[in-house]
Amino acid sequence: MAIEAFIAELVSFRAAAEAALGVVVDSAGLEQARVEFLGARSGRLKDIQKLLGGLATADKPAGGRHFNEAKAAVTSLFATAHERLGCGRRAAADARAIDVTLPGDPVRLGHVHPITQTIRQVQEIMARLGFEIADGPEVEDQWHNFEALAIPAEHPARDPLDNFYLAVARGADPLLLRSQTSTVQIRVMEARRPPLRIVSLGRVYRPDTADATHYPMFHQVEGLLVERGTTMAHLKSVLRQLASSFLGGDVHVRFRPSFFPFTEPSVEFDMEWGGRWIEMGGAGMVDPAVLAAVGYDPDEFSGFAFGLGVERIAARRYGVADIRDFYRNDVRFLRQF
Ligand code: FA5
Repeated sequence: MAIEAFIAELVSFRAAAEAALGVVVDSAGLEQARVEFLGARSGRLKDIQKLLGGLATADKPAGGRHFNEAKAAVTSLFATAHERLGCGRRAAADARAIDVTLPGDPVRLGHVHPITQTIRQVQEIMARLGFEIADGPEVEDQWHNFEALAIPAEHPARDPLDNFYLAVARGADPLLLRSQTSTVQIRVMEARRPPLRIVSLGRVYRPDTADATHYPMFHQVEGLLVERGTTMAHLKSVLRQLASSFLGGDVHVRFRPSFFPFTEPSVEFDMEWGGRWIEMGGAGMVDPAVLAAVGYDPDEFSGFAFGLGVERIAARRYGVADIRDFYRNDVRFLRQF
């Protein structure tokens, strides 16, 4: 075959490809044209390639050069048409699309703080014993935080250095952040008549120096039961039941004689931990003067009350040696519970 005829084949190939691509309107048409002109098995370029073998040996290098030029030109025409039709953009968009078959990124879920977990568990245990949940304000007046609990004006517990009093208008009644949840006992008894079984868990505030067993803001669980014929035996049973349900049957508890102005007799409630006794809270039989102050007849009703430190029972349960760790907000610590 003469080189001129070969070149003429290439020229008409390029012209035909150009014309065909000019009328292509979608990716299906483009693919059809690609197969016709550049198809590896029976495309028109393939046919022309076969003609190369029929050139005279001296013409072969020039024939090859013309062939490659035509091939490159038509390939580039296809690339341009591909781009014009947006096939490339769609392909890129497809690559960015979510592949639902890949494993997902794990979602990091937080969880409930160990003190909140403790509060919920204690509420549940007490509910099973028939105690309903009661609530009271954290900003209190002197009547509910002290007087109704038989803590008179001259009592050292009312010292401004031992409480967070709020700034109030001159002449207004003093207000303070409650220093104990025993306030809720009074609020419930003022509003309701016996029989009563309530449990109240919430924050209390004292200007205590923070150490392994103290924090200036902490939580107490307050229990109150007022019914006919209540005795110290009921109090001890309920506290033992709470301790063993929350901490396991092998927990050792002890009751130690003590004093609180609003209970008579009064006890401290301790738990053994690592060979030592840790004070968990105070308790006792509601003082008849307190019952009378809320309008109950002390000859008809008797009751018991207790108040435990939530951080301390949580520390005992989780084996935490320092309650300050609960409030450092170090997720490496909190993640363990
Ligand atoms: C009371 O607050 C009494 N209201 C308890 C009570 C209720 C007695 C009902 C009788 C009848 P006390 O001040 O001891 O008692 O505190 C009770 C518990 O709160 C303590 O045993 C301790 O577990 C916890 N607690 C006290 N101060 C702190 C503190 N700064 N940080 C953490 N826990 C504390």
